[in-house]
Amino acid sequence: MTKRLGWIVVACALGGLSVGAAGCGGGGSQQETGGGEQASGGGEVAGESEGFDMEGFEEGDPEVNHGSQSARELLGVHPPPTPFDQMTHDDQVYWMVSNVLPIAAEDFRGYDAERFGTSTCALCHGDNAEEVHYEMPSAQLPRLPAPGSPQWTQMQSSPAYAFMNDVVTPTMATLIGEERYSQEHQDGFGCFGCHTQRQ
Ligand code: HEC
Ligand code: HEC
Repeated sequence: MTKRLGWIVVACALGGLSVGAAGCGGGGSQQETGGGEQASGGGEVAGESEGFDMEGFEEGDPEVNHGSQSARELLGVHPPPTPFDQMTHDDQVYWMVSNVLPIAAEDFRGYDAERFGTSTCALCHGDNAEEVHYEMPSAQLPRLPAPGSPQWTQMQSSPAYAFMNDVVTPTMATLIGEERYSQEHQDGFGCFGCHTQRQ
């Protein structure tokens, strides 16, 4: 458990993330400053981490290079230790918190910092994630045209397509330890692992 909490702290420390239930606290993009400046009189700075007690974590934290805050560099894009579909629900959540969200948040921020400055689980799962039990694909993501249709071909020339095809899809496939969808791997992970199709 301690180890897992450590990873959540790492995820929180990566900046720009807000994981809601995991307790990072909103807007946790600032690093702990070590308490250099304190409000006059008060012995402890309260409130900054919104009730998340950082005490005791300082020593036990995994080593994190705070100089480079790249989730891709710090965590690496690799499959989970146990195939994602064989994990317990709790472990799936921890993997999403510790690896999937930080890396996706960074990728989407790189794609469009204005739209995706801060990402949460809702990025992919929608704002009703809990109600629908994180089921994918998500009906809240843009519905895609049928592959092969004229609309599909048109979409293929957009910058969004390049990002989705070259970054988002292969990264997600790796992070859940699946082959990417292709003619040879019809059961692989592709666009429709996240998006639904227009009727
Ligand atoms: C980049 C997109 C993305 C983000 C961000 C993301 N997820 Fe996921 N999540 C997925 C995909 C895709 C699947 C389905 C994987 C599969 O096909 O097996 C999934 C599956 C899950 C599942 C298993 C659902 C089931 O069917 O049992 C859980 C639980 C989950 N995510 C929780 C979370 C939590 C909690 C967060 C936020 C910390 C999060 N996810 C963030 C893409 C995402
Ligand atoms: C891991 C989940 C995931 C996968 C896989 C995925 N997408 Fe997306 N896609 C998203 C998310 C998240 C957004 C942003 C939704 C939003 O605007 O909040 C998005 C947005 C889009 C958009 C709208 C872009 C924009 O700028 O508004 C298009 C088009 C799109 N995806 C196409 C695709 C295609 C085509 C594929 C397969 C090559 C694909 N997606 C694979 C999660 C995914």
